[in-house]
This record gives sequence, structure tokens and C-alpha cells, in this order.
Amino acid sequence: MRAGIIGTGYVGLVYGTVLAKLGHEVICADVDENKIQRLNHGEIPIHEAGLAERLQEGIANGRLRFTTDLAGMIRQSEVLMITVGTPPRDDGSSNTDPVLSVAAEIGEHMNGPRTVVMKSTVPVGTTRQAEAIIRERLRARGVDYPLGVAMNPEFLKEGTALKDAMEPSRVVIGTDSELARETLAALYKDYSDQAVPFVHTNPETAEMIKYASNSFLALKVAFINEFALLSEKVGANVIDLAYGMGLDSRIGPRFLQAGAGYGGSCFPKDNSAIIGVARQHGLDLLTVRASQEANERHQDAMVERIAESVGPGEDLSGRTIAILGLSFKPGTDDVRESPSLHIIRKLAERGASIRAYCPHGMEQAALALQDCVGSIVYAEDEYSCAANADALVLVTDWPQFLGLDLRRLKASMRGQAMLDLRNMFAANGEIRQLFDYRPIGLKRRGG
Ligand SMILES: NC(=O)c1ccc[n+]([C@@H]2O[C@H](COP(=O)([O-])OP(=O)(O)OC[C@H]3O[C@@H](n4cnc5c(N)ncnc54)[C@H](O)[C@@H]3O)[C@@H](O)[C@H]2O)c1
Repeated sequence: MRAGIIGTGYVGLVYGTVLAKLGHEVICADVDENKIQRLNHGEIPIHEAGLAERLQEGIANGRLRFTTDLAGMIRQSEVLMITVGTPPRDDGSSNTDPVLSVAAEIGEHMNGPRTVVMKSTVPVGTTRQAEAIIRERLRARGVDYPLGVAMNPEFLKEGTALKDAMEPSRVVIGTDSELARETLAALYKDYSDQAVPFVHTNPETAEMIKYASNSFLALKVAFINEFALLSEKVGANVIDLAYGMGLDSRIGPRFLQAGAGYGGSCFPKDNSAIIGVARQHGLDLLTVRASQEANERHQDAMVERIAESVGPGEDLSGRTIAILGLSFKPGTDDVRESPSLHIIRKLAERGASIRAYCPHGMEQAALALQDCVGSIVYAEDEYSCAANADALVLVTDWPQFLGLDLRRLKASMRGQAMLDLRNMFAANGEIRQLFDYRPIGLKRRGG
């Protein structure tokens, strides 16, 4: 099939690449000329394992192209996927303007039957709103083409995005349109061949499935983080606790690893958006609000924990804190709503000097942390990051950190404190001898 992807970000780029791999002809369009230029030169604007190879494969076999000519792409594609961003507004609601302006473009330029697939995460009602805009434009042009519109939420996870998109846990299709159902059945034939479960429903339910999934996962993270702090008070071990809980198949082991709080481009944004949607309908999503509040409180607790390790006192002037990991999770360069950035800002506000290192998130972090320019230095590697630091804080669990030479790390530091906010080194006996080791949800010494 000829597929057009509108919005070449984390979702669009991965999806375009996967559809090309599945044998479709794909054109990816974006308003960001610089991004498209880089892609046309084979340069990948994001870090995602395996993406570069697959992308180059798609470009080389002619199945994957990039353009800023949205109108041209709309005219050439049978199926159009909307994957533009839906960032939060100041009040936390989702800004659907990008999605709706794309819908208007589609209505303006489509010249034959089209299926439009909403992949962006959008508040309930937006898919039908987008369809109404397209139909309105067609009416204004005095033309009438068969049109199918479906909400098809995306569940890929940054860091394993390619695999997730190749082997999705489920495909949710929310539509009333037979055309859209048939087109998506053809587009996703590979998934049905793999026996991936399909959920056929209406657009509203498909929109809600995405929010409910993310809010639930965020809740699990906020929950285990609260129990991590309680574990410390009562002498329990949160790793064993999570393991013991997760063996119950009703609970499951995933998303029960204590950390510095959840972040990323989806959980905080989607929580705020669905809370807002509920409010509009006179409902208070108490559990979702609680997870959001608990997460914010947890991140602040991590800041206090770090400050206390180099303390005493509020003022951290003259203290140097080394931060390992800036991306919101390993495997991605995405720093949107990363707990690291929140922690860095708060420590910098108190006068601390920050040294930071991340295998892939430094470029993005430097853009996002413009407000901290005078307080932060980006290090070349983990060891230079730790140089003269009073405390070393591991925020994101990049696997390469496990291979660090702990003695060398310690030797370059001024202080003793090592805060392991992901419990990466909890099973490592040496670390407790070398550092004032402070994991999360475990006893500080002796585990
Ligand atoms: N990032 C994830 O892990 C993830 C997972 C599932 C769902 N989602 C959802 O998918 C959507 C996209 O997320 P993302 O992380 O890929 O966003 P992103 O910010 O990485 O990419 C969005 C892209 O859309 C482009 N764009 C904006 N307006 C445009 C327009 N009018 N025409 C063409 N291009 C336009 C931007 O330039 C950008 O390249 C969001 O709704 C998000 O909530 C994201």
C-alpha cells in the first residue's frame, strides 16, 4: 500500500520505517525542514536501537521517502497516518491544534478515496472532530471522496520502539467505517499473520484505551515508589517486595521497579489530559490525580535525598553533584519530563554545580536545560562526570553503567555518597565498601 506518515518524530519515524519493512511504500512528511533534510541525508534525528539500519534499508530499496511537501504526499497516499505531537497546554490539557490542522490539510488536498489513521494520542472526541474537519473541507471544495477515519493508538515504548512496532502487544482500531477497517486489515496483514490480538471498537473507546493504559502504568510506578520509601522506614527490601507482588499474575512484574519517578513524553502529559477530560464531564479521576501527585512528591523527595547527602542545609553552593543519566529511560535520547531534568533544576536552584553524563540524552538535555546553563557541565564520560563530585547520583539505568570501574569512579570523586536511584548496583558488594551507598527502598548498608 502507499502510506503517508504525517509527523516524523519518535512515533512517525519508527512507524514509517516499520511499514516500509513490511513492504509498503511510505512517504514521511514533517513541517521541520531541518529534520527532513537530515533524514534525506540518511541522518537519524533520534536515538533508537536498530532504527538507523532499518531506515537506511528502506531508503536504499526506495520504499521510504521523506518530504516537507505535505500536500503532494496527501495526493499520493492511500492511507494517511497522523503522528504529530499533542503537547500539553499550560492548563495540562492536550493541544490538539497540530492534529486538527493536519486534518484540514488532508481535506484540502485529498484527491481520491482515503483512510485516515489517528495514531497521535488524542482526547476523546478528537478523531470524530478531525473527520468532521476533513468532510467540511471536502464540502467547501465541492468534492466528495470515500473517506474512512480510524483511531489506532500507538503503544510503542521508546528504547524498544522498533521491536514494539514490529510485534505489537495489540492493535486497537476504533472506527465506524468499513473502508478504514478494510484498509487497516490490508496494512496490518503482517500483524494478523503473527496472531497479534486486534481490538475493534468505536473511536471514543480506542482513544480511551490509550489513556487508560498509560495512566494505569504510571499508577504502578507511583505505587512502587511510595512502597520503596515506606520499605526504607520499616526495614523491608523493595526489590524482594516487587518480586513477591509481581508473581501474582493479577499484578504482574512489570513497572514495579523503584526509581526517581516516572517521566517521558507520555505518562505525565496523558495523565493531565485525561484528568482534564474527566473534569469537563464533571468527574474527578482520583486515582490518576493521586498518581500524578505522588510522582511529583517522589521526585521532590529524591531532590531532598540528594541534598541531604551533601548537606547540611538548604544552600548547596560550593557542592558538586554528578548525575548519571539524563534521558527519561535507557535506550532513548528523549528527555521530555525526565526526572533527571527536574532534579537538576531543583539542585541548581539551590546553588549546586551539576556535572552530567548520559550515553545519548546530552544534546537534548542541553536544549531543554537552557535555564541552568551556568550551573551545569556536560561530561565526556562517567568518570569525568564524577570528577570532584560530592555525590554521584544514578538516575537512569543505562546498562553500560553496570560495567563501570567503581574504584576509578570513586577515586575521581571528592565525596563518598553514591545515590543509586534505580538500584542498579544493589547486588554489588563492592559498592558498599567503596561508597556511602544509598539505594532506594533498601537498607543503605548491607541491603
Ligand atoms: N513518543 C512515544 O513514545 C509515544 C508513544 C505512543 C504514542 N505517542 C503519541 O504520538 C504522538 C507523537 O509523539 P512523538 O513522541 O512522536 O512526537 P514528536 O514530538 O517526537 O514528533 C512530532 C512530529 O510532528 C511534527 N509536526 C508537528 N506539526 C506538524 C504538522 N502540522 N505537519 C507535519 N508534521 C508536524 C513535528 O515537527 C515533529 O517532528 C503524540 O500524540 C504522543 O502522545 C508517543
